[in-house]
Amino acid sequence: MTEIRIGIIGLGGMSYSHMEHIDKLQDVRIIAVSDTNAEAIERVARRYNIPKVKQYSDYAELISDQDVDAVLSITPNDVHYEIVKCCLLHKKPFMTEKPFTRTFQEAFELNQLFDADTNQVPSMVGYSYRYVASFRYARDLIRQGKLGPIRHVFVQYLQEWGLPMKETPMNWRYSREISGTGVLADLGTHMVDAARYLFGEFEEVSAMLKNLVSQRRDPNTNQMISVDIDDFGGFLATLENDVTGVFQTSRNAYGSGNQLEVTIYGEKGTISVSCENPEQLTWIRPNLDHPSNSVKELHRVPYEYVIGQLQDFFDMLRGHLREGLPTLKDGYANQEVLETIFQAAQEKRTISIEEFRSNHLTTIQGAN
Ligand SMILES: NC(=O)c1ccc[n+]([C@@H]2O[C@H](COP(=O)([O-])OP(=O)(O)OC[C@H]3O[C@@H](n4cnc5c(N)ncnc54)[C@H](O)[C@@H]3O)[C@@H](O)[C@H]2O)c1
Repeated sequence: MTEIRIGIIGLGGMSYSHMEHIDKLQDVRIIAVSDTNAEAIERVARRYNIPKVKQYSDYAELISDQDVDAVLSITPNDVHYEIVKCCLLHKKPFMTEKPFTRTFQEAFELNQLFDADTNQVPSMVGYSYRYVASFRYARDLIRQGKLGPIRHVFVQYLQEWGLPMKETPMNWRYSREISGTGVLADLGTHMVDAARYLFGEFEEVSAMLKNLVSQRRDPNTNQMISVDIDDFGGFLATLENDVTGVFQTSRNAYGSGNQLEVTIYGEKGTISVSCENPEQLTWIRPNLDHPSNSVKELHRVPYEYVIGQLQDFFDMLRGHLREGLPTLKDGYANQEVLETIFQAAQEKRTISIEEFRSNHLTTIQGAN
């Protein structure tokens, strides 16, 4: 495959970030678009000279278009399941945005459909922070044993746009029906992925989810309407190799634009990475001259760790699959952790992933 012909579904805010990256790549062309909003189609069709016959109001028609080699799905969360299912049924490679689905049941069904196919469709879930160079570098340093065994970790993902003073009106991210959960689905999913990517699988969690702003203005009627979705989430977790973690996420963190940070406390050193400084990491380690003292160093991330998310996706389509690319399997595992966190918060107790999994299987078997 020399040129890859792309169809994009969902032409809102995040699609522009992906389009900017595509514009810098060779041999990739956007040839079809889909959105339920005609103006959104019009804007992007004009930008890429896309003819009327490749402008679809129905995403299923774009997916079944034989000229489209791969799909980028960038819609609100309530459409992820249907679009991924349609891609799997049409054997169309796809990149779908996070969170993978709204519920674990949706993720479970997609995983079954994926496994039923011997020739599995190439897939990516948009866990974009795997492509922050400092996160990739930190992962290698951990794997090389530079920090020794990991004792515990701290992960936080903070934004501020939910604060009352920002007067953000009601939107789909505040609707449980559309988004699944609130900040947990929106930002927490990235924290879960960062932890799975860096340290391995989750084993058990306890959690608290909280709604901080209970009313927002409906932009259509100007009336205040109630919102019951979480905009703060905190959880404690044990991951494999007995790594313990403290996680917090919020859309009410004054001064935080888009701040995903991970601090890793190992027996022989501590590393901190932040998406706000993708090309550097902070490393505290023993001073070689005075080993009982530590030194704090700022490290520049070697260039070999720089790789774009979509570049990785397109390389996979061309047959070059890099280890660590976030696939449908990562989406499935992520959704399982998210729903265990949700349940742990509701029931105010520690729940193991194993317990959540076996209860879910029992419920399904009971229903069949
Ligand atoms: N990976 C990241 O870091 C990151 C960042 C931002 C958003 N996202 C994800 O991207 C997705 C989109 O977020 P956004 O901020 O661009 O939202 P948005 O509301 O700005 O845009 C969504 C677009 O999808 C369209 N749409 C809705 N239903 C559709 C359907 N059935 N068929 C076709 N189009 C449809 C809407 O009309 C809109 O144009 C979300 O799932 C979000 O979680 C990921």
